[in-house]
This record gives sequence, structure tokens and C-alpha cells, in this order.
Amino acid sequence: MKICVYPGSFDPVTNGHLDIIHRASKICDKLIVAVLVNHSKTPVFSLEERVDLLKCALKDRPDIEVDSFSGLLVNYMKKRNATAIIKGLRAISDYEYELQMALTNKTQNPEIETLFMMASVNYSFLSSSIVRELAKNGGDIDGLVPDCIKDAVLRKFRT
Ligand code: COA
Repeated sequence: MKICVYPGSFDPVTNGHLDIIHRASKICDKLIVAVLVNHSKTPVFSLEERVDLLKCALKDRPDIEVDSFSGLLVNYMKKRNATAIIKGLRAISDYEYELQMALTNKTQNPEIETLFMMASVNYSFLSSSIVRELAKNGGDIDGLVPDCIKDAVLRKFRT
């Protein structure tokens, strides 16, 4: 059984992430979406909130697991018997950083492969910080995040 992990901060999950998740689920026997606990970025949404938003967005996909991890991704992969990391590439600018991460992970565990999927053109501009920026300043986030988490995102920035 080929277990794949799609890791990220998901602060919050966007339709761009979900596009990758649904497409990746077609090529993996089991897909785990893994939310990073410790990150150099300070997340706006707590770990629990980020996991809950993902679970809400994936409520119709009980076959996809949502989990969290801290420390090195390769250690988490080993713990979960996973063999492939799924990453999305939105633009050429993502490539350099992703290459560095993939090669670093290879030095730590050569058995683990990183599979890159091209983000759909509709979402190639999208990022979590764009969603946060729009939500914070009264912009329209329709179509950028799933309906079921839109209110939670807007609520976060309403003071
Ligand atoms: N659609 C929309 N947005 C996307 C996207 C997509 N398909 N793919 C990436 N993004 C965005 C994210 O929303 C995020 O946006 P933001 O910066 O505006 O918030 C940005 O791209 C970066 O994504 P993020 O989830 O923060 O991932 P990352 O590329 O920084 O990597 C881990 C996250 C968890 C994979 C990585 O930090 C990791 O493995 N950490 C564990 C420690 C480790 O093992 N490090 C490697 C060896 S040192």
C-alpha cells in the first residue's frame, strides 16, 4: 500500500490546497494531510483550528486522513510508513525552495520520494496569506476557500 503525505501549514487551507489533495488522492492508496505543528512562521490559526478547518473541508472524504506533526517531515513519514511526499507547484518561483526541501529530505531518507503536482491554473496565484489579507481587509474570499470554512476565516479577523 502506497501511503502519501501532503504536508503544510494550512493557515488556513485554501481551494488551491484542496485541488492538490483531491487530485493526489487519485494516485495514492492512502493520503494523509499533515499539518505542521512547529513552524518558523507564527500561524494565525492554532493547530487545532487548522486541523478542524481541514476536517470540515474534507468531511465528504473519510478516506483522507488529517493529522499533525512536529519535527522533521522525514521522521513523521517513517512513523506513518509513508513513502511519498506530495507537494504542489504554483509557479516557477516555488521551484527553487521546493527543490531544496526535496533534496534535503533525500539526504535524510533516500527511500522517500517527493512528487510534485502542478497547481491548477485557477489557483496558481493563491496562497494562505492572500486569503488572510483579503479576509482581514474586508475583501471577497468566495471561491478561494470552501464555503464551510469561509465564516470561520472571516470571524477570525472580525474584532
Ligand atoms: N494552493 C494554495 N496555496 C499553496 C499551495 C497550493 N497548492 N501550495 C503551497 N501554498 C502556499 C501556502 O498556502 C503557504 O502560503 P503562505 O506562505 O501565504 O501562508 C505557502 O505556499 C507555503 O506553504 P506551507 O504550507 O507553509 O509549506 P512550506 O512549503 O513552507 O513547507 C512543510 C511546509 C511542512 C512541508 C515544511 O515546512 C516541513 O517539512 N517542515 C518540517 C521540518 C522539515 O522536515 N524540514 C525539511 C528539512 S530541513
